[in-house]
Amino acid sequence: MVVAENARPPIDGGTVLVTGASAGIGRELAVQLAPRARTLILLARRPGRLDELRTTLLARHPQLQVLTLPVDLSDESDVNRALAEAAGQAGAIDVLVNNAGVGYQALADQADWARVRNVLHTNVLAVAQLTTALVPAMVQRGRGGVLNMGSGAGLTVMPEAAAYSASKHFIDGFSEALRADMTGTGVVVTQICPGPVDSEFDQLAGSAGGMTGGPPQFLRISAAQCAREALAGFDRGVPLVYPGRAYRVMMRALPLLPRELSRRQAARSAARLRSTGKGAANAPDQPEGQAQA
Ligand SMILES: NC(=O)c1ccc[n+]([C@@H]2O[C@H](COP(=O)([O-])OP(=O)(O)OC[C@H]3O[C@@H](n4cnc5c(N)ncnc54)[C@H](OP(=O)(O)O)[C@@H]3O)[C@@H](O)[C@H]2O)c1
Repeated sequence: MVVAENARPPIDGGTVLVTGASAGIGRELAVQLAPRARTLILLARRPGRLDELRTTLLARHPQLQVLTLPVDLSDESDVNRALAEAAGQAGAIDVLVNNAGVGYQALADQADWARVRNVLHTNVLAVAQLTTALVPAMVQRGRGGVLNMGSGAGLTVMPEAAAYSASKHFIDGFSEALRADMTGTGVVVTQICPGPVDSEFDQLAGSAGGMTGGPPQFLRISAAQCAREALAGFDRGVPLVYPGRAYRVMMRALPLLPRELSRRQAARSAARLRSTGKGAANAPDQPEGQAQA
């Protein structure tokens, strides 16, 4: 089936699965999708956070169906279990929002393997696994959508965050190739590459000043604005969205910067971090009280 190129993601009246819905940008995406979708499937590890969001959404939108599925996306078999439960309880999934992600800030020689592995499993493998599982049925139905959360870190050289930066370079390459593959199928693919966004992200990534705290404050936006601009771009079928006006201007100029300059700037910054001993290899990797929440 060949579908017109101006297809929109089937959010309205559709079944939308959002990963990382317990906090930050993912929670805001769920809040903004709720008045439009028929069914939301919300994934994250913390069941308490998901249940609280479900209660809030149902109070505002009584017609909405909300399925909460606690899952550890870094565990392949747990992802398979969640996919089976989602299919059993909600049927076909129209739109996949690959939002969940973790940062990790540490100089490469000081990095802890368990945390590097967690970044790669959560930010890379889970995205590939969910997409590979859900896209074939979208293509068969001739409609669908995949919204992938990348990062500015996936488009440049980011010191002191090799695994995280590489995981977001994967999202860039994966999203662009997936979009090309979906040509004429009715499946819309959009990548969001935010700069600094207010959320729990920096604290969990283990950066005292904020992993995304390097750029100037005027580039920082709220999670609600990030979600709003992400969905607006997705609705228009835009390939790549830079949320936030000032950040968008900066990112559009980035390709004009020779890579050698980015390299040198990253090297200076890493050398400064090493000399000041501000590495963050011992920072927390999970939210406080996660097991209970
Ligand atoms: N904040 C920024 O400045 C920024 C900038 C660029 C890109 N991004 C990207 O935006 C996305 C969302 O980040 P955010 O800022 O909203 O961060 P956040 O507030 O820390 O939220 C991250 C979400 O991912 C979920 N998550 C993390 N690990 C998981 C796992 N193993 N299994 C299931 N769920 C998991 C968390 O839920 P649980 O803890 O309950 O599992 C949470 O809902 C990420 O992909 C991030 O890389 C953020």
